[in-house]
Amino acid sequence: MDSALPTTQTRNAEAAKTEPRDTVTITDNRTGKSYEIPIKHDTIRAMDLRQIKVAPTDFGMISYDPAYNNTASCISRVTFIDGDAGILRYRGYPIEELAEKSTYLETAYLLLYGELPTATQLKEWQYHIVHHTFIHESIKKFLDGFHYDAHPMGMLISTIAALSTFYHDAKDIFNPEARKKQTYRLIGKMPTIAAFSYRHSLGMPFVYPDNDLSYPGNFLNMLFRTSETRYRPNPTLERALDVLFILHADHEQNCSTNTVRGVGSSHVDPYCATAAAIAALYGPLHGGANEEVLRMLVEIGSVGKVPDFIKRVKAGETKLMGFGHRVYKNYDPRARIIKKIAYEVFDLMGKNPLLEIALECERIALEDEYFVKRKLYPNVDFYTGLIYQSMGFPMTMFPVLFAIPRMSGWIAQWEELILDPEQKIARPRQIYLGQATRTYAPIERRG
Ligand code: CMC
Repeated sequence: MDSALPTTQTRNAEAAKTEPRDTVTITDNRTGKSYEIPIKHDTIRAMDLRQIKVAPTDFGMISYDPAYNNTASCISRVTFIDGDAGILRYRGYPIEELAEKSTYLETAYLLLYGELPTATQLKEWQYHIVHHTFIHESIKKFLDGFHYDAHPMGMLISTIAALSTFYHDAKDIFNPEARKKQTYRLIGKMPTIAAFSYRHSLGMPFVYPDNDLSYPGNFLNMLFRTSETRYRPNPTLERALDVLFILHADHEQNCSTNTVRGVGSSHVDPYCATAAAIAALYGPLHGGANEEVLRMLVEIGSVGKVPDFIKRVKAGETKLMGFGHRVYKNYDPRARIIKKIAYEVFDLMGKNPLLEIALECERIALEDEYFVKRKLYPNVDFYTGLIYQSMGFPMTMFPVLFAIPRMSGWIAQWEELILDPEQKIARPRQIYLGQATRTYAPIERRG
């Protein structure tokens, strides 16, 4: 990997004034000393701050950035986002084009290998994924152990972690062949485990994969097949799900991707690292938001009650779920495409009665100063729940539908981490503001 940000050079502040160059000069007013720090890609290395000291024995300066608001943790070539312009590209391809022309499996290949596959490569890739959709019978027993009302995300996290106990070669993370194998397994088995979790919650028998169907078609088969000898997915729903999978496949350094990189940096196997990522995704501020949006719309109850709800949001009593984004300060480009898919699904399945409430929330929010000032727009999760509900999914399955396609993005980012010579075990610093040294007091002398 050609990285890299240059390492520090300390130069004289006077020289820095004379000619323009890619450096920044920091003057420490405690000492009057100046430091010239290299800039590359509009970035300075945090480690270059360490030389800034008052006394030679000092630890040196560090940067403080809770929640990584302004810190790059890696160099990546997978996904590009321009949050102000509302642009999202996978490996350079605009999301709109992929959503229109690609399939999820082709997009997953692109994310993982950097190029769109040739016809032969795609055939081979699909063959490998399809031949890893079955799960070990012992995993079925494991799933049977969950309570009937277990949340499917909890089941998914645990089962993906459990896969690491089945595939010992997964520990061989520096072996490209072993990594490839785990990639096939993880992408192939996600829909099976997700569907089995759903069937378990209904007390219905598991449906085994049908490898003649497409990736989303087979998923629908494993979820919804009952007594038919052969399940035939509805082509509109199959395509809608495939596009939703494309839209959710990667999103650069979000909370769950940062988790897969953080956990993966300890060199644990990819099952444990991606199980941790699914756990991060489960939270209501991340992939759990689609479920929360639906609960919110149900709670609002009618279009007439939207203004009161918005008042409560503005008073800080609650959030407008499905709105706002750390990176997008403009309409989330995925939300635009999703809104279009919603109408295609509603044309087939009938309009979701909650749609009017959602549209009214959006209408008011896009005009209201509170939201405008904070640049809060609908994100990917605002309309997906309505689509999923119309397709027949229960709310608890919504975050699972986010997790299935995100697996390809997580693995692409994990692979990039593993191959990046600059990466080490993730280990942030802290600013310690706790007690200084104290002497242990026996219990009778406390209080
Ligand atoms: N409703 C009401 N106010 C909000 C919302 C919201 N959904 N989101 C942000 N704000 C306000 C927030 O209170 C703050 O106001 P103030 O400046 O007065 O304190 C301001 O907007 C900035 O918010 P922030 O919390 O600093 O923004 P963040 O970048 O830390 O958080 C977020 C991003 C997505 C966690 C947040 O917008 C949020 O909680 N949204 C609702 C949950 C949601 O929809 N999550 C899905 C995100 S997209 C899918 C994914 O990739 O995870």
